[in-house]
Amino acid sequence: MYRTHTCGELRLADAGKTVTLAGWVQRARDLGGLTFIDLRDRYGITQLSFNMERDKALCEQARQLGREFVVQATGTVKERESKNTNIPTGEVELIVTGLKVLNGAKTPPFTIEEETDGGDELRMKYRYLDLRRPTIRKNFELRHRMAIEVRNYLSAQHFLEVETPVLIKSTPEGARDFVVPSRMHQGEFYALPQSPQTFKQLLMVAGFDRYFQIVKCFRDEDLRADRQPEFTQIDCEMAFVEQEDILNTFEGLAKHLFRTVLGKEFNAPFPRMPFDEAMKRYGSDKPDLRFGMAFQELNDLTQGKGFKVFDEAELVVGINAEGCAHWSRKQTDALIDFVKKPQVGATGIVFVKWTEEGLKSTVDKFYAPEVVQQWAARFGMKQGDLLCVMAGKADKTRKQLNELRLHLGDLLGLRDPWTFAPLWVVDFPLLEQDEESGNWHAMHHPFTAPKPEDAAKLFAGQDLGSVRANAYDLVINGTEIGGGSIRIHDRAMQEAMFRVLGFSDADARHKFGFLMDAFEYGAPPHGGCAFGFDRWVALFGGRSDIREFIAFPKNNAGRDMMIDAPSTIDAVQLKELGLEVKG
Ligand code: AMO
Repeated sequence: MYRTHTCGELRLADAGKTVTLAGWVQRARDLGGLTFIDLRDRYGITQLSFNMERDKALCEQARQLGREFVVQATGTVKERESKNTNIPTGEVELIVTGLKVLNGAKTPPFTIEEETDGGDELRMKYRYLDLRRPTIRKNFELRHRMAIEVRNYLSAQHFLEVETPVLIKSTPEGARDFVVPSRMHQGEFYALPQSPQTFKQLLMVAGFDRYFQIVKCFRDEDLRADRQPEFTQIDCEMAFVEQEDILNTFEGLAKHLFRTVLGKEFNAPFPRMPFDEAMKRYGSDKPDLRFGMAFQELNDLTQGKGFKVFDEAELVVGINAEGCAHWSRKQTDALIDFVKKPQVGATGIVFVKWTEEGLKSTVDKFYAPEVVQQWAARFGMKQGDLLCVMAGKADKTRKQLNELRLHLGDLLGLRDPWTFAPLWVVDFPLLEQDEESGNWHAMHHPFTAPKPEDAAKLFAGQDLGSVRANAYDLVINGTEIGGGSIRIHDRAMQEAMFRVLGFSDADARHKFGFLMDAFEYGAPPHGGCAFGFDRWVALFGGRSDIREFIAFPKNNAGRDMMIDAPSTIDAVQLKELGLEVKG
């Protein structure tokens, strides 16, 4: 037997027992006659104790151990003289009587402690060492717990977990596909699923009624902290439902996870906000509602007074930073620098401060005090507040002000990761138009149905920008955790949708004929949604970088630093696949 106990298990009650532990050497302390080793495994750390007087050879053997050596130690559990109250095993130590090195280890390239000195790339290259750190390991315990609770809740609601294939054909979710060449059918390719969207719909046609899957999805897109090229969804679909049924079912899932995993109760229904309102009030389809600072528009109170920036703007809009009137020039200049950064791309901010001396704006020469008063009234401004106003093209300015709002939220400490503000954003437009090409794109995906009252516009191909969908996103703390919609389940409507999206009938048949055929064999009304599991775990772990919650993630260039993928393949393999690499 390699071990009788784990390194996290022994307590004072075990004193006197003879036990065997196995684990990694976390650190060694040599105090002359005494040597202490912290032995670590997944469950914790136990102190091993060696004494020159007691057993010189054993003590010398212990002194030879390097960091991360794998050892087995047998001995007697004893109450410690100086107790460590920081760890559960801190009241005892093991008086070692037998020590065996199971394997040596090179000096690790970074420290394997709660906090490490390793940079991102190094941690990725030696991810198996990084995963030994308790901080990271806890993320996977959280992920495991959440997966179990997802299964518990959905199983209790009669959802059936079904696996769908990975070698498929393009399922457009707005990213590029990863493709896999076929050896048996040279010149042909599989695509990896961007999501199991079409398969889950086919399962509804099959009468499965309620499906879910915790499933890998693959998207070739620009990577960010909350985006990986392969990631995991909690993918769900239901038949014979309306939007209300879906929102209720998955609000239930969210509340179940909050309760069972974080011990947080949400009794009230999650708020719901139409897409248009989210854009107007927060400049984002995923507003962070942990704090206020909603937008107010000021066109009527600012234009026609000779201030060109406002006069020429499509939109003049602002936010009130409560309690910030005392900010120095340096601090407000820093805000201007922030919005001027290329990622934000604004030209500046007009400020209004309400100090003891009254209201003072940076554009006082254009606006009479009564007018500035009216601005302040619109925001419900109080003495001590700082108004920030931006102007320009409407959509762009809203996005820029959203960036400023989030930045202020950070600066003012209003975005505490342990406060949770869930929100359903509803009534998304079905389509969006590319400004340059004029082409229409599906806002969610091409399988989303228009609201019944807007369906005629889709068939007629008219007034497409005003077609709404029963599509919804679950947003928590400004992160899009999930999204879904009521689907098209009728061939004619699906064909009309593809036509609007610029597919020829032949192309639509080639790519999605299987789905449209299925709609002709008794497809029930259905809808569903999918949640970004990595994002949800990260949110519950109080972090924003999903890589910390994925065992072997890719870096921001889409590379696996540890196995060095992607990589070239040899000439034989290329030939078998009928491929030739250019350049
Ligand atoms: P959608 O494309 O909105 O919908 O994806 C659902 C959720 O998956 C997460 N997500 C990601 N997480 C990490 N890395 C990525 N690259 C990434 N892309 C998306 C987000 C997102 O909300 N088939 C539809 C769902 C449906 O209609 O039922 C779909 O995939 O949290």
